[in-house]
Amino acid sequence: VTAEKAGFDHFMLKEIHEQPKAYRDTMRGRISDDGKSVQLKELTMSEDYIRSIRKVHIVACGTAYHAGLVGKSVIESLAHIPVETDVASEYRYRSPIITPDTLVIVVSQSGETADTLAALREARSHGARVLAITNVVGSSVAREADDVIITWAGPEIAVASTKAYTSQLIAFYLFGLHLAGVLGSQERATVEELIAGLHALPEQVEQILEQAPVLKQVAESISHHRSLFFIGRGVDYAVAQEGSLKLKEISYIHSEAYAAGELKHGTLALVEEGVPVIALVTQEALYEKTLSNIKEVKARGAHVLAVANSGSEHEIAKSVDETFVIPRTLPLLTPALAVVPLQLLSYYASLALGHDVDKPRNLAKSVTVE
Ligand code: G6P
Repeated sequence: VTAEKAGFDHFMLKEIHEQPKAYRDTMRGRISDDGKSVQLKELTMSEDYIRSIRKVHIVACGTAYHAGLVGKSVIESLAHIPVETDVASEYRYRSPIITPDTLVIVVSQSGETADTLAALREARSHGARVLAITNVVGSSVAREADDVIITWAGPEIAVASTKAYTSQLIAFYLFGLHLAGVLGSQERATVEELIAGLHALPEQVEQILEQAPVLKQVAESISHHRSLFFIGRGVDYAVAQEGSLKLKEISYIHSEAYAAGELKHGTLALVEEGVPVIALVTQEALYEKTLSNIKEVKARGAHVLAVANSGSEHEIAKSVDETFVIPRTLPLLTPALAVVPLQLLSYYASLALGHDVDKPRNLAKSVTVE
């Protein structure tokens, strides 16, 4: 068993460390050698079809849903097509307006999640085209969708998803750029900048992984708390939700993710002396706004850990207790970096509490009941 884990104590830790490879494998063969364009040759949807898409629905469960929240920002900003992201178990029952010009994207690591599969069938029965983003070739979702983008993350064993999530993000970036290429919705320079940014990610993740000991320390202090909060704006909020889920799944510590600006409408009442708050502050355009939310929680005695871009750490350090620095990338790409310290934080918190990291209580890797 140790051999399967390649020297790591747990599958989760191994899979966290496999992310640089998973990013490269998911990008491989999909970006032109000159770094100027993305082409998903496996897609059978025509350029005319792409030009006819009026809206996109992204449907998924759990961690894959959180990838879909980032996917919404990616597609809206790169292709300028309106996107809604739904939890699969809600989607079917809210009578979504699915028309033939709706592209439905289902996201599923296993490709076997019952609710996601049911949503896929619902979408197809309304005449929509379905694109599946999945990690398993030949899975039910892959077989029933019109188009498939395989995330080449390799087998994921730990129940808590890590490399599957980040490779789903990569798939969304690639698909967004593919759409932009057909629609001409982005300047050539922007596309090239994004592609260069994507190529830099694997090494940047490695830099983050080298800082694991710092996160282990933070995790140990967090593990004594009963409840904590994750806050962020924009894609940082999406990452906050994934960070909070990860922590709950394997450490059983209660946590909530909040859109930073929404705190004052209720949750602030729960912030008291010593409550840990993990603040994601990677979006430059929203920096001042999130900083003022950080000051609100600080004023109530919260202990704040900021996840911030390299370059902003000295400024932010004045307002928080601890800062974890991630390498600089483009604003849209930060989720692929910012989630990594949160994965490690959850891992080490679970470890400190003596839980079964890879097999958390009550949870299954793949849920095939609705
Ligand atoms: C289960 C797993 C989660 C996963 C979710 C969706 O609840 O424990 O980690 O995110 O299912 O799984 P899928 O295979 O569809 O991505």
